[in-house]
Amino acid sequence: MQDRVRSVGILGIGSCVPDNIRTNKDLEKMVDTSDEWIIARTGIKERRIADEKTATSDLATVAAKRALEDAGVAAEEIDLIIVATVTPDMFFPSTACIVQSNIGAKNAAAFDLGAGCSGYLYGLTVAKQFIATGMHDKILVIGAEKLSTIIDWEDRNTSVLFGDGAGATVVGPTEDGMGILATSIGADGDGGKHLYMPAGGSRVPSSISSIEQKLHYLKMDGSEVFKFAVRIMSKASLKVLKDSGYGVEDIDYLVPHQANIRIINSAVKKLKLNKDKIHVNLDKYANTSAASVPIALDEAVKQGKIKKNDVVVMVGFGAGLTWGSCVIKWNK
Ligand code: UT7
Repeated sequence: MQDRVRSVGILGIGSCVPDNIRTNKDLEKMVDTSDEWIIARTGIKERRIADEKTATSDLATVAAKRALEDAGVAAEEIDLIIVATVTPDMFFPSTACIVQSNIGAKNAAAFDLGAGCSGYLYGLTVAKQFIATGMHDKILVIGAEKLSTIIDWEDRNTSVLFGDGAGATVVGPTEDGMGILATSIGADGDGGKHLYMPAGGSRVPSSISSIEQKLHYLKMDGSEVFKFAVRIMSKASLKVLKDSGYGVEDIDYLVPHQANIRIINSAVKKLKLNKDKIHVNLDKYANTSAASVPIALDEAVKQGKIKKNDVVVMVGFGAGLTWGSCVIKWNK
C-alpha cells in the first residue's frame, strides 16, 4: 500500500568500506579456487575486509557521519536510527544504539532490523511510513556488515562471495511528488534453510561443540538462492514500478543488490534494460549484504550517474528469504 501523506526522500548519503583489500589471488592461497573461476561465476575481483578492531558499528558510524554531512543535518535532528544488519556487534544492545551513542544522536530512538541482504530496503520502507505520517522527521537508515566474521574462510563455496562495508542515508520530508514514490517488501520463510547461520542463537546456543562443528558460519545452498534471486529481481522491480505509476521505459538508473553479475545480467535481460543504466560495483566490494545497495547508491550518486528528477529503482534479495524494491524520483 502506498500512502502519500507527506513526500519522503533521501536527503543525504554516505558509505564506508575498510581499506584492506582481499583479492581473488589472495583467496587462491586460502582455498581451492581461482581468480578465473570467481570472475566467471560471480564477477567479483576483490572485496574489503575489516581489521580485528573494527566492528559493524564502526563502519556504520563513519557512513552515518558522511550521510549527515551530505544532508547538512545535525545528529541531534535525527529522531530514529535503523541499522539493517546480520552481523551486529553483539546481540544487545542493538548496533543502532551503539551508532546513536557514537554520533551523539541524543534525540533518536534506535533499533536493528534483520532482513538479510534486503535489510536496507526494508529499513527504507519503514522510514518512509514513519516520515509520511509525521511520526518521525529525520531517520538514519543504515545497512552495515562485517560479514568476514561469519565466513568460513576454508569453504570455497561461500568465502569468495562476501565482503565488509556500510552505507547510510538520511531520510526525511521532501517536496511534493518527489522522493520515494513506492516501496515493496516480501518474504518466503520456507526458503530460510537455503541461507542461514545455525548457531549462536536460542536454537543452538554457543558451545564448544557448536564451534567445533563450525555452526557459527554462514551456510548457503548457492544454486537455490541463485534461482530465487533470478526470479525475484525482475518481479520485485516490476511490482514497485507498477505501484509508482512508472514503467521499465521510465527507469533512468537501477541500483541492484550486488551479489553476482550473472543474477544482475539476468534481471537486466528480463526487464529489457540497457546495461549502462545499471550500477555494478561487486567487482570491487563483493556482496556486503545489507550494505550493498546503499554503498552502490552512494557511489552512483557521487559519480554523477543519478541526477535530480531521475527515476531510480533499487532492488534486492537475501536471507529469509526476503526481497525489497523501491522507486525514487531523485529529489536532491
Ligand atoms: O545475497 C544473497 C547471497 N547469496 C547469493 O547471492 C548467492 C547466489 N548464488 C550464486 O551466486 C552461485 O550459485 C554461486 C556463485 C554460489 C555458485 O555458482 P554456480 O554457477 O551455481 O556453481 P555451482 O554451485 O553449480 O558449482 C559449480 C562447481 C562445483 O563443482 P562440481 O560439484 O561441479 O565439481 C563447485 O564445487 O564449482 C565448484 N565451486 C568452486 N570452484 C572453484 C564452488 N565454489 C567454487 C570456487 N572455486 N570458489
